[in-house]
This record gives sequence, C-alpha cells and structure tokens, in this order.
Amino acid sequence: MNEIALVTGGSSGIGLAIAREFVRRGHGVLVVAERGVDEAVRQLRKNTDVPVLGLQTDLAVPAGVEETAARARRLGIRTFVLNAGVGVHGPFAHSPLRDELRLVDLNVRSVVHLAHLVVPGLVAGGDGRLLVTSSIAAAMPAPLFGTYGASKAFLRSFAWSLRHELAGTGVTVTTVLPAATRTPFFRAAEMQRTHIGRAPKSRPAMVARRAVDALHDGRAEVAPGVQARAMVAIARVLPQSVRTAFHGWFYAPGTPPPAADASRTDTSVVRLGADDVSLDARPRRRRRPPCEP
Ligand SMILES: NC(=O)c1ccc[n+]([C@@H]2O[C@H](COP(=O)([O-])OP(=O)(O)OC[C@H]3O[C@@H](n4cnc5c(N)ncnc54)[C@H](OP(=O)(O)O)[C@@H]3O)[C@@H](O)[C@H]2O)c1
Repeated sequence: MNEIALVTGGSSGIGLAIAREFVRRGHGVLVVAERGVDEAVRQLRKNTDVPVLGLQTDLAVPAGVEETAARARRLGIRTFVLNAGVGVHGPFAHSPLRDELRLVDLNVRSVVHLAHLVVPGLVAGGDGRLLVTSSIAAAMPAPLFGTYGASKAFLRSFAWSLRHELAGTGVTVTTVLPAATRTPFFRAAEMQRTHIGRAPKSRPAMVARRAVDALHDGRAEVAPGVQARAMVAIARVLPQSVRTAFHGWFYAPGTPPPAADASRTDTSVVRLGADDVSLDARPRRRRRPPCEP
C-alpha cells in the first residue's frame, strides 16, 4: 500500500474507523467529507507522526469529486476508500425527491465519477487499491429503504466488474459488505425506531480492521462479522419475493424493547443517540435475527 490512503466519509463512523486503522498500521490518510473534517483530523493526529490530512468538500456534486481527485493526484495517492454514503428511509411515494436524488448523487454517481478520474492513473502506474463500501443491503431488495439498497447493489456489482476488468493491471478492487454497524448513520436517516435501528450492531473498529485486511490482501469481497456473513448466506437461498419481505422487516417500525430490557423506559429508546443505537454493549439475553444494512 502507498503511504497515504484517501478515505471518503472519513469524518465519521466506518470511514473514520478505517482512517484510524490505516494510521494504526503506519499509513497516512486524507480524510474527505462535507463536515467534521477538522475534528476527525485532530483525533487521528493524536499519538502518531504519519501524515493526516483533510479535505472538506461536498461529494454529492461533481465539483467536489473533481477537487478530491485533483488533491489525490497532487499527493500521489494510490489507495482509495470510496465509503461516503447516506440513507433515506420511508415510503418512496412520500419521501422528498431531492433527498432520494442526493443519495444517488453521493452513493452512486460520486463513486463512478471519482473512480473514473483516478483509475487510469493507477493502471498507468501499475499498482493501486480501491475499497468500496457497499452493504449487506446490496444482497436483497429493501422496502422502505429502496433507493439505498439499490445504491449498494449498484456499488457491489460495479466493484466486482471493475475488479474483473482490472485483473492483471496491478490494481485491485475490494468490496466491503458491512452489516448494521454502530455509527451515526441510523440517526441521520431517522431510523432509530425501526427494527434495524433497535438491533445489535457491529463495531466500526471490527468492520474497519477486516476491510483493511481484505484491501491489503487484494481480496474481492469481505462481509465482516457473523451477522454480515449470515445475511449473505440467507440472501443466497431465499427466493426474491421472500427475501424482499424478509429484508423489508428490518426497515419497518420496530416493536418496543424486549422484556429483558424492561428496566429501560421507552423514553430511553426515543432518546437513542448516535452511540446508543447499538445494543452491543448490553448483555445479550435473547437471540436476535441477523441484521444490517
Ligand atoms: N452503519 C451501517 O450500519 C452501515 C452498514 C453498511 C454499510 N454502511 C455504509 O458505510 C458508509 C459509511 O456510513 P457510516 O455508517 O459510517 O455513516 P456515517 O457515520 O454517517 O458516515 C457517513 C460519512 O459520509 C460523509 N458524507 C455524507 N454526505 C457527504 C457528502 N455530501 N460529501 C462528502 N461526504 C459526505 C459523512 O461526513 P459529513 O456528513 O460530515 O460530511 C461521513 O463522514 C456508507 O456508505 C454506508 O452506506 C453503513
């Protein structure tokens, strides 16, 4: 791997954990996000002397992608983590069109645009690494989260195709399919009250470690953790209509907390914050279904 890795969406959640993982392994990072870049850079610079740089830009517009590619070119970056993404939750017929289209602009168009700007240079140089953050949501249609699921299916297909095309060039493309992970994502998409919002979540550090391992090894795909692997396996065996209904359950309004959590009032659930969304830290008193996105 080259000395500096570019991480889109590196200011928060999985992207920040990936940036932290690079720094931990002695690689520099360029964190790209629309907000929170200075704070992420400040955190990442603690106790390290590897270069940690930031670029604040809106990747949902072409100018932001072009600015990002230009900065990467100047820095000679050959490792790219295409991770920035958002979710839009709710019945499609009622969701604001601008939100749906902004999701497509960020989750899909910016990845195609940035990849198109940087891949020729990587191929010409004979080495490079791309990591694309898809999701387990790529494996099944996602009622009430349809545009998001489709965007992640697009990324998974795109990454596999690009990988195949680039075989033998020295450039590898790796896809990561995280299951539901403890990040601000669910609060941002106003999903705390859904089944998935209430479900146990993977730790971003675990997802990041597995993703960077896979990137480093040039593997095609990684589904970090038991939940992610279970969802991929389930998606393989269910017929499309059944997996659509099964998957839709995760995005439907959730039930109140189970009896085991009776000490927690419903108010505490309503107040779930970014870090509280996960139930990981609490004792697991009952089996829960595997989850994502
Ligand atoms: N959390 C999960 O359960 C989960 C599961 C599977 C896949 N994923 C995927 O993982 C990726 C990261 O999500 P996360 O869970 O880590 O959520 P997150 O904490 O909300 O991180 C999203 C990142 O994207 C950046 N971003 C959003 N809009 C942007 C824009 N217009 N331009 C530039 N950057 C922008 C955010 O930065 P600012 O808003 O500060 O700009 C932030 O750094 C996403 O692609 C998501 O689909 C998440």
